[in-house]
Amino acid sequence: MSLIVISGAASGIGAATAKRFRDAGHQVIGVDLRNADVCADLSSPQGRADTVAAVLERSGGAIDTLVLCAGLASHFKPVSTIVAVNYFGAVELLDGLLPALQKGHSPSAVVVSSVASTQLPWSRNPLGEPLEAGDAARVEAALAAAGEHAGHVAYAGSKNAVTVAVRRRVVAWGQAGVRLNTVAPGAVETPLLQAGLADERYGKAIAEFVAPIPRRARPEEIAATIAFLAGPDAQFIHGAQFYVDGGIDALARPTQF
Ligand SMILES: NC(=O)c1ccc[n+]([C@@H]2O[C@H](COP(=O)([O-])OP(=O)(O)OC[C@H]3O[C@@H](n4cnc5c(N)ncnc54)[C@H](O)[C@@H]3O)[C@@H](O)[C@H]2O)c1
Repeated sequence: MSLIVISGAASGIGAATAKRFRDAGHQVIGVDLRNADVCADLSSPQGRADTVAAVLERSGGAIDTLVLCAGLASHFKPVSTIVAVNYFGAVELLDGLLPALQKGHSPSAVVVSSVASTQLPWSRNPLGEPLEAGDAARVEAALAAAGEHAGHVAYAGSKNAVTVAVRRRVVAWGQAGVRLNTVAPGAVETPLLQAGLADERYGKAIAEFVAPIPRRARPEEIAATIAFLAGPDAQFIHGAQFYVDGGIDALARPTQF
């Protein structure tokens, strides 16, 4: 039996991942705003610090797998909270829980990014360097400058930055003996997607976002990839981004990989 920590465990992809691991006989510590083993708000520095402390206490200081699913989409207001949860809610849990992962068995972490992480590549991501520097004032300025596109910049920019943050850690985590990867879903049938579809600014674009495999993913399909990346058949996979998007990335960027 392994000990798995999952953020965003109360809904959507996180809930499907928690169910999959629990059904396989593993122990899961779920983190979420509510309906979780650890209830905390990952949008605030205090909430993130409290989460790390609570997880360390509940786990006894050793974790086998960390899965970071908690996230907010473009329609959420205020847009700075999208960035806080999607970027700092992942990066600070990664860094805060690395020592516990080092004490785990075949340890690894998986961060749920998005196929949107490629829509604002690092060279054009106005949030990238400010986030890496932890410069909140520059992040706020970049969001303000984005005007009516601030929701999109917050989402795609934070997802790009979190994928880069994972890839930047590949040497340190490799030396620490902990594998670290991202999953980049396309459209997945979850409450987050439904809320986006209902949004008057983003709904039409999301509805028209049709993959070469012309349907949306089920949360269980993303959970299956997460379980594979955490499992015994993925022990040399490190620093990779796995697209589970029905072909959207290949459609949008056939020459970049
Ligand atoms: N659904 C999609 O189409 C899709 C596509 C690409 C990427 N993703 C990503 O997958 C991840 C999971 O999304 P989902 O679709 O399952 O959404 P969801 O809304 O069903 O689940 C997200 C969970 O994150 C939690 N969360 C949000 N803010 C939080 C906070 N401040 N503190 C703690 N927990 C918080 C929510 O309470 C919720 O339980 C997200 O990171 C999302 O960006 C989703």
